[in-house]
Amino acid sequence: MIPTPHIEVENKDLIAKTVLMPGDPLRAKYIADNFLTKVEKINDVRNMWGYTGYYGKKKVTVMGSGMGMPSIGIYSYELYNFYGVENIIRIGSCGAYTKDLNLYDVVLVNQAYSESSYAKTMGVSSRKTLSASKPLNNKIIKAGEKLNIKLHICNIHSSDVFYRLKHDEFKEIHEKYGADAVEMESFALFANAKALKKKAACLLTVSDSLITHEATTSQERQEAFTKMMEVALNSL
Ligand code: ADE
Repeated sequence: MIPTPHIEVENKDLIAKTVLMPGDPLRAKYIADNFLTKVEKINDVRNMWGYTGYYGKKKVTVMGSGMGMPSIGIYSYELYNFYGVENIIRIGSCGAYTKDLNLYDVVLVNQAYSESSYAKTMGVSSRKTLSASKPLNNKIIKAGEKLNIKLHICNIHSSDVFYRLKHDEFKEIHEKYGADAVEMESFALFANAKALKKKAACLLTVSDSLITHEATTSQERQEAFTKMMEVALNSL
């Protein structure tokens, strides 16, 4: 059933087996412009830009996921189920729940805890915590070592809500579930990978801290995210 409702690609071969997914489609364009060769734009629907190109000899697709679990849930499902994608590596940002994580640190997600009903509603799992794919994480760890970029391997919180009225609730989530940082997408990505027997991983750069209230500017983020992108591309 291609093209799908949200990805207008008519030929499966235009999408690589591995897809890197930043939340922001502008970042997908940045990666394509700065790191890839022989680039073809593959998607325009809702401005959720996607590009396929080569990193060295490796074919790779980069495409935005949008923000939040419903959005990444749609795009990753279509990529896995209809376009033959095997691996999706989310590359995003996160807020730190612990003073042990500083701005710009790069986090590799081990498990994602979530209050989201995504996995249960989908019918794949009633667990509150889902894991990244070990083989994919192992490749990412090797790439980090090769590039001498430190990866903080953490459990994180995949939150359904960005603006909480209870500002301190994160402390409880940190204590109870061992979540060291917060983002809003990986739980749905991991649920889709589990449902469809595919692989998923998530690399995050710390963009803000709920402890110190520091935050990065968008210019700073652009530069800092380069480290994470290089790790993801070198894991291919
Ligand atoms: N992504 C980056 N920072 C975040 C935060 N503070 N909460 C949720 N998602 C985030």
